[in-house]
Amino acid sequence: MTADTFRIGLAGLGTVGVGVIKILQTHADMIAARAGRKIEVLAISARDQGRDRGVDLSAYEWTENPERMAGDPRLDAVVEVMGGSDGPALSLVETALKARKPVVTANKALIATHGVRLAGLSDQTGTPLKFEAAVAGGIPVIKALRESFAGNRLNAVYGILNGTCNYILTEMRRTGRNFLDVLEEAQAKGYAEADPTFDIDGIDAAHKLSILTALGFGVKPDFPAMKIAGIRHVSAGDIDHAAELGYRIKLLGVARRLDDGKIVQSVEPCLVPEGHPLAAVDDVFNAVFVDGDFMGKEMLVGRGAGEGPTASAVVADLIDLVRGDRGPSFGVPVDDLVTATWAGPADIISGFYLHLNVLDKPGVLAAVSAILRDYNVSVEAMIQRGRNPDQPVSIVLTTHEARQADIDGACAEIAKLPQVTGSPCVMKLIEI
Ligand SMILES: NC(=O)c1ccc[n+]([C@@H]2O[C@H](COP(=O)([O-])OP(=O)(O)OC[C@H]3O[C@@H](n4cnc5c(N)ncnc54)[C@H](OP(=O)(O)O)[C@@H]3O)[C@@H](O)[C@H]2O)c1
Repeated sequence: MTADTFRIGLAGLGTVGVGVIKILQTHADMIAARAGRKIEVLAISARDQGRDRGVDLSAYEWTENPERMAGDPRLDAVVEVMGGSDGPALSLVETALKARKPVVTANKALIATHGVRLAGLSDQTGTPLKFEAAVAGGIPVIKALRESFAGNRLNAVYGILNGTCNYILTEMRRTGRNFLDVLEEAQAKGYAEADPTFDIDGIDAAHKLSILTALGFGVKPDFPAMKIAGIRHVSAGDIDHAAELGYRIKLLGVARRLDDGKIVQSVEPCLVPEGHPLAAVDDVFNAVFVDGDFMGKEMLVGRGAGEGPTASAVVADLIDLVRGDRGPSFGVPVDDLVTATWAGPADIISGFYLHLNVLDKPGVLAAVSAILRDYNVSVEAMIQRGRNPDQPVSIVLTTHEARQADIDGACAEIAKLPQVTGSPCVMKLIEI
């Protein structure tokens, strides 16, 4: 260890933490040349000291309580890769920033929930807080928004932000199997957690989107304000119908600025036209589409999770730290982040996909059409499947542009019709 070595404390030795160690061990000289100083792990922490993690940890000091790294004067920075929006991750990051110790984290839940306060501490103390790995793993989207696209006013940032959901939807399309079948397979292959709630209910994607919205539009992240729907209700039939209509279903995080300055922010399954670049992003891949006034439209695509890609983003942040990058965490100082006015159902205009299950009785189509007409919704295309007087049949339709509030109102009325069974499945058509 030389005097100009940059020494880090690594809190968390799971998928990402072990990946960071592997990269720093494998590419020590190359990273030193690029950063201008050697980067070395000095201290490590996790819950279970005895666990074999498949890497040699003998050179590192074990720290029982990760928070202590914040006050260790030998450390130049701490890396938080434990996870969780509160608990030890929050106390380590908070204490480190107060102690003017730079922080790198991969923790999207932490940044989505406490990002404003933590970035405020970072501003006040002049201590960098970096979180490239928190959004879309190996895709350098935070850097792109903070630096590469910084000369643009953005109109929209949206994309596929959860690899588990993308894998499930891709497999459903390829094999025609239903959601639960494919989820089980994804769990067996390690693409989905034993408790998949965060992924399939859209929460993980929403954490990431709230960070992108803040960076893209200069607004305070506001996770509770987000509209979130996951993919549990997407059926094999929906995927087939979408394909027949020329679309693919993707779980999208969408942030876009409306003409009146309000911002739409939602995570929900959407129908993407087959010709759109996002439609071709399959399996566990993530992609972020950015639309800016001078740059036009760009798509960043890659692996959104996994040991190598995520750890690679953490190491890139460390190299930036060593080089002296001290830009504000969200692209502008926290005091300059504005409180967004979020768009509501009355503001959002889109084409929609509606899937109804109806009893095949005379008059049902006329009743549905009348309700849609009363709510100013006009139909663009319609598919009716099956003829069976005893079983519900599917009616699928797409609409011309309509207000979300009108669609919500119409669907609530349609659901009350005696011929309609269950709630209509509604998804937006993405044409941007
Ligand atoms: N995995 C990915 O692909 C990925 C992608 C992007 C972002 N991230 C983010 O990166 C972070 C880490 O993810 P991961 O997949 O590496 O998680 P993981 O495999 O579950 O590892 C978590 C590590 O943190 C340690 N830990 C947990 N609670 C602790 C506590 N109270 N005190 C001390 N250590 C504690 C665990 O210790 P033990 O091993 O001893 O139990 C484990 O080593 C999360 O914020 C995650 O959202 C992960």
